[in-house]
Amino acid sequence: MRRTIGACLAGATMALAGCGGGGTAASAAAPPADRALSDQAVLGEKIFADTTLSASGRQSCASCHDPAFAHSPANALAVQLGGPNGDLQGSRKTPGIRYLATNLPFFFDSEGTPVGGFFWDGRAANFAAQATARRRSSPTSPTTTSACRATRDRGLCQRADLAQRADLAQRGDLCGAFKVPSLRNVALRQALFHNGRFRTLKDALTFYVQRDTNPEKWYPRTADGSALKFDDLPPEYRANVNTSEAPYDRGRGDRPALTDAEIDDVIAFLRTLSDGYAP
Ligand code: HEC
Repeated sequence: MRRTIGACLAGATMALAGCGGGGTAASAAAPPADRALSDQAVLGEKIFADTTLSASGRQSCASCHDPAFAHSPANALAVQLGGPNGDLQGSRKTPGIRYLATNLPFFFDSEGTPVGGFFWDGRAANFAAQATARRRSSPTSPTTTSACRATRDRGLCQRADLAQRADLAQRGDLCGAFKVPSLRNVALRQALFHNGRFRTLKDALTFYVQRDTNPEKWYPRTADGSALKFDDLPPEYRANVNTSEAPYDRGRGDRPALTDAEIDDVIAFLRTLSDGYAP
C-alpha cells in the first residue's frame, strides 16, 4: 500500500488513521507464535520490551507500541505519557508500527506529492534516520502548549526542526500535511489521526464527510457565529487544506458525501483489515 503524505486533509485533524469503533482489540492482533525470527530480530524484540532503557525505568517501546494491539497503544489516550515520572505528554498520536517494513523511504513522486518516510511528517527518510531522530527529539518530550486542542502542529513543513533536511522549511504549501498511515489494523486503534482527536471510526469518518457541510459541528464558532474551520493550523496555512477532492469538495449546507448508513458500511469493511479478522 502506498503511503503518501501530502494530498491531505486537515481540520481539527488531518490524516486518515482511524480506529476504535468500539473495537475490542487484542488477541486477534497478536502475530502467530511460530514465526521464525533471526537471532538479530530476537535480540531486537528483547530490546523492544526492555524498560531499563527509559528515563523512568518503567517504559519500553512496547509500552506505546503494544504487540497485543497491532503495535499501537493499548489505551485510548490521544497522546502517550512518558519522561522520568511518566507524566510528560507527547505531542502526536502514537502510530501502529506493525507493517512498517513495507514503508517507503521519503521521496516526491512524479506529481510532486511527498510519499513515505517515517513519523507523521515523514521527517526520517529511513529506519536509521528514524533512530537518530528519536535521540534528538523524543516523542515523549513535552508539548510547548498545555491546551490539548489546537496545538497547531504544522506537519510536513516542520521537518526542518530536526536539522536533518532543511529542504522543506520553505515549503509552506506542505504545512498541515501529514503522512497517510496504513489502514491495516485500523479498527484496533483507539485514538485516531496524528493528534488523536477521535476515538472511534464512526467519529473519524463522520468528521470527514461533515467537515465542510456542517463545520459548526466540529469547530469553535467566531463572534459572528460562523465556524472557525481548520483552527489547528496557523491562519496563513489554512488555505493549504484540501477542499477540492471528495468528500471535502462541498460547501456548508450541502449533502454530505456519505450517509450515516454508508459510513457504517465503510466501517464494516475497515474492520476486515484487522489481522486475524473473522467474519
Ligand atoms: C511514549 C510513547 C512511545 C515510546 C515509548 C516509543 N514510541 Fe515510537 N512513536 C511514538 C510516537 C508518538 C510516534 C510518532 C512521532 C511523530 O510522528 O512525530 C512514534 C513513531 C515511531 C516510529 C515511526 C512510525 C511511522 O509510521 O513512521 C517508529 C518506527 C517507532 N516509533 C519505533 C519505536 C521504537 C523502536 C521504540 C523504542 C525504542 C519506540 N518507538 C518507543 C511513541 C512512542
